[in-house]
Amino acid sequence: MKRIILGLCLSVLTLIPAKADEGMWLMMLIKRLNYVDMQKEGLKLTPEEIYSVNNSSLKDAIVSFGGFCTGEIVSDQGLILTNHHCGYSNIAALSTPEHDYLNDGYWAKNKKEEIPVKGLYVRFLIRMGDATERINARLNQKKITEKQRQEIIKEEFEKIEQENNEKGKYTVVVRSFFQGNEFYYFVYQDFTDIRFVGAPPASIGKFGGDTDNWEWPRHTGDFSMFRIYADKAGNPSEYSENNIAYQPKHSLPINISGIKPGDYAMILGYPGVTSRYLTSYGIQQLVEYEYPPFIEASRHALDILKKHSEKDKAIELNYAGKYASIANYWKNRIGMIEAIKKNEVIAYKEKEEKEFTRWALQSKNKDKYSSVLSSLKNYYQQTNLMVADKMYLFWFLRASSYVSMPNRIGDMLSTYLDQSDEGREAMKPKYIETINSMYETLHPEVEKELAKELLQLYVERVPLKNQLKSISQGKITVNNIENLTESSLFKDKESIINFINHPSKEVLHNDPLYVLSKEAATTLMNKTEGEIQLNDTFEKSQRLFIDGLRKTFPKKVFYPDANSTMRLTYGTVKTLMDNPEKPNDARLNYYTTLKGMIAKYKKGDAEFDLPQKLIDLYNSKDYGDYANEYGELPVDFLSDNDITGGNSGSPVINGNGELIGLAFDGNWEAMSGNIQFDEKLQRCINTDIRFVLFIIEKYAGAENLINEMKIVK
Ligand code: ARG
Repeated sequence: MKRIILGLCLSVLTLIPAKADEGMWLMMLIKRLNYVDMQKEGLKLTPEEIYSVNNSSLKDAIVSFGGFCTGEIVSDQGLILTNHHCGYSNIAALSTPEHDYLNDGYWAKNKKEEIPVKGLYVRFLIRMGDATERINARLNQKKITEKQRQEIIKEEFEKIEQENNEKGKYTVVVRSFFQGNEFYYFVYQDFTDIRFVGAPPASIGKFGGDTDNWEWPRHTGDFSMFRIYADKAGNPSEYSENNIAYQPKHSLPINISGIKPGDYAMILGYPGVTSRYLTSYGIQQLVEYEYPPFIEASRHALDILKKHSEKDKAIELNYAGKYASIANYWKNRIGMIEAIKKNEVIAYKEKEEKEFTRWALQSKNKDKYSSVLSSLKNYYQQTNLMVADKMYLFWFLRASSYVSMPNRIGDMLSTYLDQSDEGREAMKPKYIETINSMYETLHPEVEKELAKELLQLYVERVPLKNQLKSISQGKITVNNIENLTESSLFKDKESIINFINHPSKEVLHNDPLYVLSKEAATTLMNKTEGEIQLNDTFEKSQRLFIDGLRKTFPKKVFYPDANSTMRLTYGTVKTLMDNPEKPNDARLNYYTTLKGMIAKYKKGDAEFDLPQKLIDLYNSKDYGDYANEYGELPVDFLSDNDITGGNSGSPVINGNGELIGLAFDGNWEAMSGNIQFDEKLQRCINTDIRFVLFIIEKYAGAENLINEMKIVK
């Protein structure tokens, strides 16, 4: 019987047995905390076959893809599978209206045709370690302030890094878990010569677009392929023609024999952020003060981007990544508000807090814990309005490069100004290159409109007294911001390069966009004295809250919130029993098929178009080895794994350690999942590996890739 956290405890209290596949578990703790349970669900591997420091194991086939997604190695030549939406920005950046890999797809027929991707890296986990005792030993020594605490932690982090990085060979990251109650470190090896191997056209890879995003039933072929290159000795190396395909310690075999509800399914990957220990007050703040401005402002940005993209192919490609990522979270936030209400998440948390309070008021706990919740409540009350103001500011800054870039470039130019003449000469080429690449894909008409429109919203929504000085004092207005852009040093790359050749402190410091951008960025990032104090109290209270919660429910096995470290979640392939009143609801099935995809097809539509070749393959039922027992071609399927953003592209692995799918999304009914895992509603949406192979073999004819993989029938 399984676990977790409060799900189980509350159900024990209310005598309802719970069975959920909640939990994002830390690799080195699985053997101790989860292994027995995993075996019961169908795992056949040993714990060492999943995570081992000395021998190759599953973890060696998993990479953090660029720090924002997950990928897995599927051949002994470093071939990576990830989601299409993970490769999206990079594929868009490689595309031009003439060679539109994003919309037309691309398949390298041999390694020479694989295209180097600038700025992309993948990261392997070499090992992890527990630093909790060591750090807490110092923190618990005496009464210390939050500031001293942070200093000690920083010191220890640096030491641990030094001790483990093997003279710079590895990247070492130490992270806090359970909001500062525990600490673990991670030793990574990064590879930077990554090449684009292939992807289906966006009509397949992003089929259903934003309409189907976050929803089931789904018919998206959400995958793309890359390859890791290394030097001849197998070490990471910058791009070089002499580099060769990387030989990984482990690669995943692929199983195409099919899946059914109840089959074991586990996912290893890099979930980004969850807030499973957020209090009811914190959730209230999200729903009332943080998300509504997010939704409103991001919608404004999307409308402008969409309008320009529809008119101009180059703009569409240059802004594709930005549009997709904004649209993804625009819809997510709408879904979160809806699901938090519908799933009564706040009431659930209030119950949990009541239990905590009962425990905290016991005489032995009172001193330390009795004021924790009221202090958290106070924090949210004090920050509610500020959070909304900052959200509008965030979007004003984020939406337009004319608002966000001057601060970054300006800092660079300040450093430049401080150099001697020779110093400047030496820096020039690199600076010019950086400026060129920053402006390469920027379209002034789009950026200007974004700046103006988001400023308009900012001044409408943020009270005058809370506005940035340059705005409240009338230096920057909705009416003049476009003109200021024209006369600014930052208007285009020629103007900045001219500055580099004729630098002047005065020009930089009087540039209105620089002043605005700097003020906006510092207001967002730096905290006032008052904010620092509030924040310190908050962190301490949140830390004590989690600590107390674990003691309130001593029999429960707790897992830490996601924080972009490698985690494992296990469960089974599972139907979504969302709506018992509608038994014929398509959601009740655990998989979708090509037939269903074709049924959604709308010729020429921006979201539901399909390439003729796929339709032809459907008509001739030419599915190769990839059809199921009913002769259908599966597209996507559901499992009850616990994932979140960052897990995208993660492998879904069966009980034998073989790849059966790629995780790519969550479902609308459980959009509140980042805050509370709902065992009845929460599902993970995966692309079936048979659809992936079908596209590679039958649609793309890329037998070269199929031949590299180890396929189990
Ligand atoms: N919802 C998916 C995730 O966050 C991203 C899907 C991208 N597709 C899209 N239509 N924007 O991982």
